[in-house]
Amino acid sequence: MGGQRTVILKEGTSSTQGREALHADIMAALAIAESIRSSLGPKGMDKMLVDGFGDVTISNDGATILDEIEVQHPAAKMMVEVAKTQDDEVGDGTTSAVVIAGELLSKAQALMDKDVHPTVIVDGYQIASERALEFLRKIAVKVKANDKTILRKVAKVAVASKLLAEHKDFIADLAVKAVLEVAEKSGSGYKADIDDIKVEKKPGGSSTDTALIQGVLLDKEVIHPGMPRRVQHAKIALLNCPVEVEKTEFDAKLNVESPDQMKGFLDEEEKILREMVDKIASSGANVVICEKGIDDVAQHFMAKKNLLAVRRVKQSDMEKLAKATGGTIHTQLDDLKASDLGRAGLVEERKVSDDKMTFVEDCKNPKALSILVRGGTERVVDEAERAIHDALCVVRDVVVQPEVVAGGGAAEAEVSRMVRGYAQKLKGKEQLAVLAYAEALEVIPLTLAENAGMDPIDSLMEIRSKHQAKQTRVGIDPYKGKVSDLAKLDVYEPLAVKVQALKSAGEAAAMILRIDDIIAASKSKEGGAPKGPGDSAKEEGEGES
Ligand SMILES: Nc1ncnc2c1ncn2[C@@H]1O[C@H](COP(=O)(O)OP(=O)(O)OP(=O)(O)O)[C@@H](O)[C@H]1O
Ligand SMILES: [Mg+2]
Repeated sequence: MGGQRTVILKEGTSSTQGREALHADIMAALAIAESIRSSLGPKGMDKMLVDGFGDVTISNDGATILDEIEVQHPAAKMMVEVAKTQDDEVGDGTTSAVVIAGELLSKAQALMDKDVHPTVIVDGYQIASERALEFLRKIAVKVKANDKTILRKVAKVAVASKLLAEHKDFIADLAVKAVLEVAEKSGSGYKADIDDIKVEKKPGGSSTDTALIQGVLLDKEVIHPGMPRRVQHAKIALLNCPVEVEKTEFDAKLNVESPDQMKGFLDEEEKILREMVDKIASSGANVVICEKGIDDVAQHFMAKKNLLAVRRVKQSDMEKLAKATGGTIHTQLDDLKASDLGRAGLVEERKVSDDKMTFVEDCKNPKALSILVRGGTERVVDEAERAIHDALCVVRDVVVQPEVVAGGGAAEAEVSRMVRGYAQKLKGKEQLAVLAYAEALEVIPLTLAENAGMDPIDSLMEIRSKHQAKQTRVGIDPYKGKVSDLAKLDVYEPLAVKVQALKSAGEAAAMILRIDDIIAASKSKEGGAPKGPGDSAKEEGEGES
């Protein structure tokens, strides 16, 4: 970089360089971290988000909040990415990751104000991050992957900060049961794919009506009143082709000259549909689950043959059904054979609140599970679903990698102390950067204290001195509003969540700190004029908007 450059930019393109660019990026990223900071921890506040259509979401989940707010600044977008990555990889700790990334940037800004070059900071952060991960692994406690007691504790902590906190025992039990059921032995450990657990929500009832169902739950009703509502020993035809007479792609005009001719057409259509249904029935199927549509006339024939049919099922659900029932999804009716049919002990339509849902239970593959989430209103159900998602994720994390660390900011405080110790071996500006990293980690206990209405600085000083005195699991107890030993309070979190949070926070901070040039295309006409260097900047490599 640097030197003479010839850049030919399109008219309206703005370019911000050097410190000014970096400062704008840091400010934008900080704004994001600042916005969700107050939602960290069990005493954190929730956010109410209203989208362009006026739909309201109330959430405490970092990933959800950041997903809902439309962020324009590219550096701010990177922070949103941090939350996304965290959510995809481990499912929890999204708020923490973003808050740590923000703090790393804020500390970096302070160093730059003291004339430390961004590259030195990035390098220092890199060294510190490697050590921090190593220390984190060192302080982790090994547990048994199928130890229900510890899994329940971890799940409870993940749910504690959500709307559903009052039902955390209930949700934790459910999550542990579900994950252990889908977990499989793999080598010396376990693997568990929580995609095997289908979460379906239906407003109504109370949160404790949320139930685990052995099988696949479809938010669809049986399509014809003449069909059976309950089929035992189900043999299921899984179709991804419409049971309809295909429409041609182009229009043609036919002149019908007599009523007989008209009848001929309709008869022919009916015949095609009848043959389709005959093909399905002759395979031995007694249940039809179709991703596409089923014609009214075909429905009538199916009802006559005593078939139970469901249509317009989501593709993802079809895949789950195929896995669960051992059936093959068919794109053509011609080659449907008995061996392609999926098996389930029971397929039944049941009424849930005002709606009807189809339960495919007792499947050939016993690992197929669903969770039916209930709750007073739509928003409660939505947030309950997110809490269950977090609980399932953390239980999975521990089952797959059975190591935990103390929560309440204790792990972060301890790693911070260790990194600070390591920094003593370094010299000069590098030491400053490593120390800044160590301090940045303390933002977690600090923020937890702040959100619990405690004095953040006093609490942090108390935590520091206890950690110096080898009380390594001391952190914030937001419920009592005091500094305590979190291990004694059973507050444990998966090591995987903490590792990922440090990794993604560190990477995002480094990426932002390396930028010294923002080249922003002008906004497209309908978007209006760019508001300033910050607002209009665009990510590198992105096409023109
Ligand atoms: N009972 C508790 N006592 C002390 N700290 C707790 C307790 N329950 C949760 N925490 C702490 O709260 C923090 C987690 O808060 P929160 O769940 O709001 O954010 P997150 O997990 O970082 O992000 P996400 O929004 O993805 O859940 C962790 O540091 C955790 O240790
Ligand atoms: Mg959480």
